[in-house]
Amino acid sequence: MIWIFDSGLWWLSVRKELAKLMPDQNFFYIADSAYCPYWRRSPEELQERCRKLTDFLIGQWNCDIIVVACNTATAAAIEVLRSEYSIPFVWMEPAIKPALLHSKTWTVGVLATYWTFKWALYHRTLTEFQWNVKVIEQIWDGLVELVEQNKTESEEAKELLTKYLTPMIESNIDHIVLWCTHYPFLIPMIEKILEEKKVWDKIIVINPAPAVALQTQRVLKALEQHNKQKKENIFYSTWDEKILKNFVENIINEFPEQHKHTTNTKNFKFNHLNI
Ligand code: DGL
Repeated sequence: MIWIFDSGLWWLSVRKELAKLMPDQNFFYIADSAYCPYWRRSPEELQERCRKLTDFLIGQWNCDIIVVACNTATAAAIEVLRSEYSIPFVWMEPAIKPALLHSKTWTVGVLATYWTFKWALYHRTLTEFQWNVKVIEQIWDGLVELVEQNKTESEEAKELLTKYLTPMIESNIDHIVLWCTHYPFLIPMIEKILEEKKVWDKIIVINPAPAVALQTQRVLKALEQHNKQKKENIFYSTWDEKILKNFVENIINEFPEQHKHTTNTKNFKFNHLNI
């Protein structure tokens, strides 16, 4: 069984892709909302959080794979997790490589949280594939919070996004890498801004979630055996599970078509997790 964790409620960008590829799987989920946003915490604190969540998960009878559906947590903790635990992890790769390889304007934009930009693997990827491509890095302060509050369509989100995107557009980028699992929910607003600036057909927006889903499917296939599906979906929140319940009920229609049977939330269990 596949367990997923992220710092907050917007794990859905990864879950959506997982469900498209593996419609018969159930996904169990932890929203570590009590510690959100992760980007405000130190790498040491994040490593400790990830250890705590992993210890909890490996204690569950049905945990075969853990998807770290958070770039900030991946950047801070994945090396530690991989060296300390034998359970297979899938994590968020720096989605910069396709942008570097395919840029025709030799300029790409990357949007991420502060700690994600510090990740050694990101820098190794740049060293290997950057050549003469100019990479414009932008820390998107404030956007994780707006997404958590479900304000992706708000004027506030539009203003912040315009502020961050304008210098990139003026520098002639042809790819934007959304390197945070919260950001794909801003794609409609990003597209609106690109349209207003008349560059919607010149810039490709990269969402890393589909690649992560593909990797999860590969890892699951490679396991000799794994726990079979259970009928219910389990959601844990380290904050208020009622907020998580309301949230899931509100966005249930965004679950992929194949998962329409899940629109009936009676099989969903929402629990508080005190760790
Ligand atoms: N979803 C997390 C990521 O991908 C958000 C970070 C946060 O909580 O600060 O980085």
